[in-house]
Amino acid sequence: MSPSPKKRQIAAIKGTHDILPRQARKWQRVEEIANSLFELYGYREIRTPIFEATELFQKGTGETSDIVMKEMYTFVDKGGRSLTLRPEYTPSIARAIIEHQLHLQPDPLRFYFIGPMFRYDKPQKGRYRQFHQMDVEVFNEKDPAVDAEIVEMAARLLERVKVKGAEVLVNSVGCRACRPDYHLALRQNAEKHRKEFCADCQRKIDTNPLRIFDCKVAACREIALGLPKIIDYLCEECQVHFDQFRSYLDLYELSYKVEPFLVRGLDYYTKTTFEFVSTELGAQDAILGGGRYDDMMKDFGGPDICGIGFALGMERLLQLVPDEDSPEKFVYIAWMGDAAKKEAVLIARFLRLQGVECFIEYKSRGLGNQMGRANKFGAPWGVIIGEDEVKKQSYQLKNMVTGEQKEVTREKLLTAVRND
Ligand code: HAM
Repeated sequence: MSPSPKKRQIAAIKGTHDILPRQARKWQRVEEIANSLFELYGYREIRTPIFEATELFQKGTGETSDIVMKEMYTFVDKGGRSLTLRPEYTPSIARAIIEHQLHLQPDPLRFYFIGPMFRYDKPQKGRYRQFHQMDVEVFNEKDPAVDAEIVEMAARLLERVKVKGAEVLVNSVGCRACRPDYHLALRQNAEKHRKEFCADCQRKIDTNPLRIFDCKVAACREIALGLPKIIDYLCEECQVHFDQFRSYLDLYELSYKVEPFLVRGLDYYTKTTFEFVSTELGAQDAILGGGRYDDMMKDFGGPDICGIGFALGMERLLQLVPDEDSPEKFVYIAWMGDAAKKEAVLIARFLRLQGVECFIEYKSRGLGNQMGRANKFGAPWGVIIGEDEVKKQSYQLKNMVTGEQKEVTREKLLTAVRND
């Protein structure tokens, strides 16, 4: 008989991660803080499907963006439709507004969502193939005051989760009125350096020269520094918008830096763009990024409604959020013998009905073994039930920290563990 082939372990797909229970606690904490903060500013949660028609991202995220050109998880389903796992959330919300005519409802057009996104990029620290974003979007607010409010909300969020030292970068990428002149100047200038650029940037000179600023190749970055800046080509409307945006940031006393090469990697932006970066993150230094996109809805064939929003990378944020000690607070119920097992089940039910977390294991084990496990799990309380306790209808309550033990009734037990 030939030896059986060695079984190969199935592992998580490259660029994806399990969020294990101890980490999940931190995720929950941050998500709760974020949800309540977003609600404070009038946002409401919106949940859309994980996959959409590929066309949505081609049109929304943009044909010349790296996401659409190289990074989408696109597949053909059994019905022959081309579908894509969402690489970002913004186009999905715009689609949902149009599809459900949310702009005709009395509710504010402010939305948030936290969930997974998918991009087929080269995995490295801070860059994954399945990652999570907190996404926030406002529609139908042209006023630059909302641009500043959303930046201020992002700053408050970082403050609430105790992330320090993030730098706020802002820019304006103009609009359809001022960008053609800028593109022309940029293209003419870039053309002079064509041979020095990488192959990708050479292509970008012809397709969308703005994308040259996203290139990570050192030589290209060096040349990019000498290229014309969009900020010098803004039309009057965009210039006024940018100035007012900045004056509202000043009103909030938010410190920020104007970063003239912050064009962002997606095609839809108009006017304001911003990013929060942290030197503690390494090469992938953007915690969050966003901006205005006043043409997307119209380009989707929907109403002429402007939008602005940002998305924050959860994995990157969590790297910066300090760990908090959250000690376990459950009661471990130990039992010996069949009658005690049933009593333990009833006590667990009683405590849980009263909102007390408790834990019971059904495998028969000795008392010492059970107490050892309660200790290992970090339970602050142990309840011991044997035949005697069943008869007396009172139980041994053990403080697992001090080792102190006393006999209590069901009601006293509840009061003791509740007061802890
Ligand atoms: P984005 O800059 O592509 O913008 O992504 C936003 C954030 O998501 C980044 O700053 C980063 O923290 C995180 N992120 C992006 N890609 C990855 C990855 N592969 N692994 C881990 N984290 C990542 C958007 O997605 C726009 N939808 C933002 C927006 C909303 N603009 C307007 N509204």
